[in-house]
Amino acid sequence: MILVTGGAGFIGANFVLDWLAQSDEPVLNLDKLTYAGNLENLASLQGDPRHVFVRGDIADGELVTALLRQHRPRAILHFAAESHVDRSIHAPGQFVQTNVQGTYTLLEAARAHLATLDAGEREAFRFLHVSTDEVYGTLAPQDPPFSETTPYAPNSPYAASKAASDHLVRAWHHTYGLPTLTTNCSNNYGPFQFPEKLIPLMIANALAGKPLPVYGDGQQVRDWLYVGDHCAAIRRVLEAGRPGEVYNVGGSSEMANLDVVGSLCDILDRLVPAAGSRRKQISFVADRPGHDRRYAIDARKIERELGWRPAHSFAAGLEDTVRWYLAHQDWVSHVQSGAYLEWVERNYGKRGDAS
Ligand code: NAD
Ligand code: TYD
Repeated sequence: MILVTGGAGFIGANFVLDWLAQSDEPVLNLDKLTYAGNLENLASLQGDPRHVFVRGDIADGELVTALLRQHRPRAILHFAAESHVDRSIHAPGQFVQTNVQGTYTLLEAARAHLATLDAGEREAFRFLHVSTDEVYGTLAPQDPPFSETTPYAPNSPYAASKAASDHLVRAWHHTYGLPTLTTNCSNNYGPFQFPEKLIPLMIANALAGKPLPVYGDGQQVRDWLYVGDHCAAIRRVLEAGRPGEVYNVGGSSEMANLDVVGSLCDILDRLVPAAGSRRKQISFVADRPGHDRRYAIDARKIERELGWRPAHSFAAGLEDTVRWYLAHQDWVSHVQSGAYLEWVERNYGKRGDAS
């Protein structure tokens, strides 16, 4: 089996669902179920013996060690993280705790686990660390996109904590021979994204008739990748990536935030006509402190070496995403009302951590 951390979050849940749609290899899913973890994302796997869910913290070394001893996974796919830049600005401590200390704990447990494997198992074992393009900092309009050799220059507490975790992963490979793989990916969008991030937040606010808060001048550029394409890249890197290597993953879809929000308004106006255009709801608000101006990814290495490229254009992926949110208004309202957290409390509150 494989161990997935953070498999109840946005990308992790998409990964687990895609994995089990394509393979019968079981998934051990370790997730703390923070505000960002939502078991409703995995409702379609209820009763499926191939999915073993454990509520727990990656920074709990005893738990991680016990799970590795019991389940002997052939790979660890590490998604768990605090992931929202705005939250990291207000409360950075948890980002250091989970992203740095948590990754350190996992690496140490993986190193001990590796030593218990026989030669063949050790040869096959992989630790795949899911990271972000934000570790590279910000680009000027004419700069070339981030490549795997771009120097690290993180600007937000989130990016700094992810950069620290990337450095630990690198060191555990070079020093201890842990067979690591690191992916640095651009902004994802798609089903099950928590409505604090740009695209789902704008869809929810647009439908509710609320203002669409664009930070600063809205000319910050991000490279957008459909989450299913990211999941395919991770599967491919796990299958054929070279231990110790880093792979940048991106959609070659650079867009200014204001254009993304405008496109969402247009799609919604077409699918759910309103009295006037939702573009009228756009509202410019104070900029994010330290806001990175532009991210762009050079994904030629993963294309050349592993044959991966994105299957979804941004236009098609965005429309699919809007349709998904329209069809899953219950999911959105449970997230907004906190009902999904009450469910966690009912299931785990009295029992403590359990599988
Ligand atoms: P998310 O915030 O939606 O989900 C994170 C998940 O991790 C949640 O289920 C949460 O409960 C779990 N978690 C948090 N702390 C934990 C802990 N201490 N122990 C166990 N589980 C814990 O995040 P996401 O957007 O799905 O991102 C997943 C990974 O991908 C992160 O490592 C992130 O840095 C990286 N990434 C995200 C993007 C993006 O655009 N969302 C882009 C590139 C890379
Ligand atoms: P976000 O989804 O938080 O991802 P990240 O900060 O990791 O790139 O934000 C994407 C972009 O959208 C970023 O430039 C900040 C901007 N943004 C807004 O303009 N308004 C918002 O309400 C949010 C959440 C983000």
